Amino acid sequence: MTERPVVIAGNWKMYKTIEEAQVFIEKLKPAVAKADCGVYLAVPFTAIKPAADKAAGTNIVVGAQNMNDAREGAFTGEIAGIMLVEAGAKFVILGHSERRRIFGETNELINKKIKRAIKEGLQPLVCIGETAKERDAGHAEQKLEEQITQTFAEISPEDMQKCLLAYEPVWAIGTGKASTPENAQQMHTLCRELIGRLWNEEIAAKIGILYGGSVTPRNAPEFIEQPDIDGVLVGGASLTPETFSEIVNYQTIKKVKEVT
Ligand code: PGA
Repeated sequence: MTERPVVIAGNWKMYKTIEEAQVFIEKLKPAVAKADCGVYLAVPFTAIKPAADKAAGTNIVVGAQNMNDAREGAFTGEIAGIMLVEAGAKFVILGHSERRRIFGETNELINKKIKRAIKEGLQPLVCIGETAKERDAGHAEQKLEEQITQTFAEISPEDMQKCLLAYEPVWAIGTGKASTPENAQQMHTLCRELIGRLWNEEIAAKIGILYGGSVTPRNAPEFIEQPDIDGVLVGGASLTPETFSEIVNYQTIKKVKEVT
């Protein structure tokens, strides 16, 4: 039997000052203290250290939302993985659709960032997902295959096991129009099949795949109950401790998914 951890991750995007982040963590701490799942928060760079300090000794894991693929160097305005680690980040979101769409990040660049993150000891949380246009044209599956093949190119099975994936259909992000649990389950199964083919069945069974896109306390349970959905990546609803903790504390969340 294989077990997969359940992770509920918040992505604050470009919201919250240091002070706001600290107040948030103080409120979240008691609210999720009994949570039986991973509680991840991807915060703005300036808030990483203060948030990680506040979260020390709790079950809240602080991470970043992006990083550069180089160890260090003359890259004005960029941030290195070693700096994130020093500040207290344990994971980093890579390849979010906003990074791909607004900042032109390609699968090739995201691939380099994944390799760098692993080298520096950060867990990559890698986002993939099709646009509305691609879905309407019947290319959603093909798009996922392309993204998985290219973003994880030359990643060893051992390193693949360190990654988390998030299936986030672009049309569902920030729109209030979440995917259906059935469609998400289907896409997650596809990801797993692909990973089984490209790496091996064991990794496919073990890798955590989260769903993201307009997740709320209301719809989160039906996503998490799907057999191949191992948690959720939450944007808007992660901005208040009340809504985020409600998702975390959804009563049937188990620490692990048991897969036979
Ligand atoms: P949303 O964002 O929950 O606000 O749709 C999700 C994300 O961008 O990860």
